[in-house]
Amino acid sequence: LTKFLFISLNILLITLSIAFVFAIILFSNSSNTPPGPLPIPIFGNWLQVGNDLNHRVLASLAQKYGSVFRLKLGYKNLVVVSDVELARQVLHAQGAEFGSRPRNVVFDVFTSNGQDMVFTIYGEHWRKMRRIMTQPLFTNNVVHTYSGMWEEEMDLVVRDLKNNSKMRSEGLVIRKPLQLMMYNIMYRMMFDSKFESQDDPLYIEATRLNSERMRLAQSSEYNYGDFIPFLKPFLRGYLNKCKELRNERLAFFNINYVEKRRKIMEANGDEHKTSCAIDHIINAQLKGEISEENVLYIIENINVAAIQTTLRSMEWATVELVNHPTVQQKIRDEISTVLKEMKVTPSNLHELPYLQAVVKETLRLRIPVPLLVPHMNLKEAKLGGYTIPKESKVLVNVWWLGNNPAWWENPEEFRPERFLQEESSTEVTVGGNVDFRLIPFGVGRRSCPGIVVAMPILGMFIAKLVTNFEMKPPNGMEKIDVQEKGGPFSLYIANPSTVAFEPISV
Ligand code: HEM
Repeated sequence: LTKFLFISLNILLITLSIAFVFAIILFSNSSNTPPGPLPIPIFGNWLQVGNDLNHRVLASLAQKYGSVFRLKLGYKNLVVVSDVELARQVLHAQGAEFGSRPRNVVFDVFTSNGQDMVFTIYGEHWRKMRRIMTQPLFTNNVVHTYSGMWEEEMDLVVRDLKNNSKMRSEGLVIRKPLQLMMYNIMYRMMFDSKFESQDDPLYIEATRLNSERMRLAQSSEYNYGDFIPFLKPFLRGYLNKCKELRNERLAFFNINYVEKRRKIMEANGDEHKTSCAIDHIINAQLKGEISEENVLYIIENINVAAIQTTLRSMEWATVELVNHPTVQQKIRDEISTVLKEMKVTPSNLHELPYLQAVVKETLRLRIPVPLLVPHMNLKEAKLGGYTIPKESKVLVNVWWLGNNPAWWENPEEFRPERFLQEESSTEVTVGGNVDFRLIPFGVGRRSCPGIVVAMPILGMFIAKLVTNFEMKPPNGMEKIDVQEKGGPFSLYIANPSTVAFEPISV
């Protein structure tokens, strides 16, 4: 029996070894795919590279494997682009070929298989959704209509900071009031509705549902079922949790906002003039252009795309200003010299080059979405002389484009002056004559339409803070900790920052 077992074991080992060698040959680079570490069967490179594929890890892999490289994560292909010319190819020259988005089992649940706009493939549905969202949300007219309201919300934060003398020494965790402010800015634009305070039960519910959605969608907990097909059945419990949350969240938007707007619109009859973004979108649905579900997914997308991104930039800007008091003073000086007694508005921002340089420098060094939202090629494509297998997830490491020492002078320094000196012709745009080294909103078809509102909001916000306060680290601290944390879609401050606000009279 022992002899039989010994022979069987040997046969098994030999068979496994042969299968292993065949699999390696099969997985290896026979089809001219981009270079990358050698994958092993079933797992690909997953065990080698782990779950935390943030912008810094990917930049160091690019130094080893080149400006386009491939990782196999289980059976999936991940292609990472880390160079200006290749970024131009993916986002512009071959923008249609790489203009889709990859989804996985969890994103399929959270978007009902692409009923939304942000995570849907490039095609008719995406085009229609983007067109319908543009007029009420992403035009200069929107900026003109709502900038007064943005200022009102910013003034409320200033008022609260001034009314609390503790802010001058102990300071406060800045993220909290700024989050309420950003929710109110976006909810007033969408629904003409706002939250009373951080204790408003509706606010507590909205933030809970949104952060739970982000946690479940961006977790690496479900990677095993996503990367290895035969493990998918074990994700049933996780996916059920996602489905429950999706239903609860869409019902929350529907009951508390959409239904209310429908009633107001009905009551106003034909004479009804649309008074907020969702009215336009409901009208498009009533005309049969999109479904009721699509309406809810537009709201879901704005909740995901607009609030946290802008909030993070505000937090980074505040922290960099605290750590660079001379920059605060230079902004104050510019505003008082150029505008005298007038206040900063979207229409005079172009007269304030230093303030704009501060916004650009924040978006360069602390780029909120460092790998863009992932792109995907529906069909096999060519990139940099390599073959990109169809349905690859394609990441453009825009953080590295903006922080590579080969292309920027001392990129790790927060120095807005660079945009008045050696980088004076570098602009942040999403189309036209783009400098691909600085593309925090992406470029081209799938670029961020929210740039139209995000840039003036950021400029006004920074101006509002520095003209009302001298911002400092809380008592006893020299600087604020700027340690960062990078997730699959985001770059944020690891430890929520506490900032002290000393009112100044202007
Ligand atoms: C997409 C950045 C604010 C709405 C994106 C993308 C990035 C981005 C990098 C993906 C681009 C790509 O994949 O090529 C930012 C930053 C913001 C910001 C840095 C603030 C500082 C906003 C705001 C809104 C918004 C305020 C809405 C009012 C969207 C939408 C998409 C998007 C709808 C999806 C576009 C598509 O797939 O066609 N954003 N965003 N974003 N953003 Fe923003």
